[in-house]
Amino acid sequence: MRVMEATSYQHMSELAADYLLNKIRTQPYIVLGLATGGTPKGTYDRLVKDHRENGTSYRNITSFNLDEYVGFSPDHPNSYHTFMYENLFGKLDVTKENIHLPNGVALDLVEECKCYEEQIENSGGIDLQLLGMGSNGHIGFNEPGTSFEVNTHIVELAQSTREANARFFSHLEEVPHEAVTMGIATIMRSREILLLVSGESKSEALKELVNGEVRESFPASVLKMHPHVTIIADKNALSGVR
Ligand code: GLP
Repeated sequence: MRVMEATSYQHMSELAADYLLNKIRTQPYIVLGLATGGTPKGTYDRLVKDHRENGTSYRNITSFNLDEYVGFSPDHPNSYHTFMYENLFGKLDVTKENIHLPNGVALDLVEECKCYEEQIENSGGIDLQLLGMGSNGHIGFNEPGTSFEVNTHIVELAQSTREANARFFSHLEEVPHEAVTMGIATIMRSREILLLVSGESKSEALKELVNGEVRESFPASVLKMHPHVTIIADKNALSGVR
């Protein structure tokens, strides 16, 4: 794992956007794995700004998002579909058919998980997966204790994750209890991974990731077994590491 140090959230976002833009410009048909949350938002803002100013095209990219809440239709204001269209896809020249997120209202969710895996496989697999990390070490919505062997699956969200995500809702009660997420095995099949970590609230988790052992009780630790991981972390997140 290569660790790049950023001075601030803004700097982390700039480094991450430059990293992604370099890939997108040299590989216009790239298959991206994308994440939601506060961490990648600044990166997405910079991709949008670059698209406006420099015209970088996303017409030929394919994307697969990590996860979606169960019970939220794509047009629900708090769905990850809405997050991605408001913050990124709606502001770029993407080809809608190439954009994928799990369907949280599929009648058969188990079948939906299977189809999602097949779609990723049929696209040739993910070239670059962008990740954030929960303060309990979750990646996607793979909570502590998740087997490293699982593919896209349905999960029950940890109470701490629901509380952390409540800031995007008016009340904690509105935060769903379940989600569909790429599994750890799905994430590990990506050819390359870019993990962003920002803020003091993630410093314990980052310390555990850098210094701790690989164990299922800390999902992000699996990344140590991946051959091509880059971490871009800001100073506050790195405060516990050295
Ligand atoms: C969320 C998402 C993850 C995200 C993580 C951190 O619950 N499912 O994909 O990486 O938690 O979120 P944030 O970046 O808002 O801290």
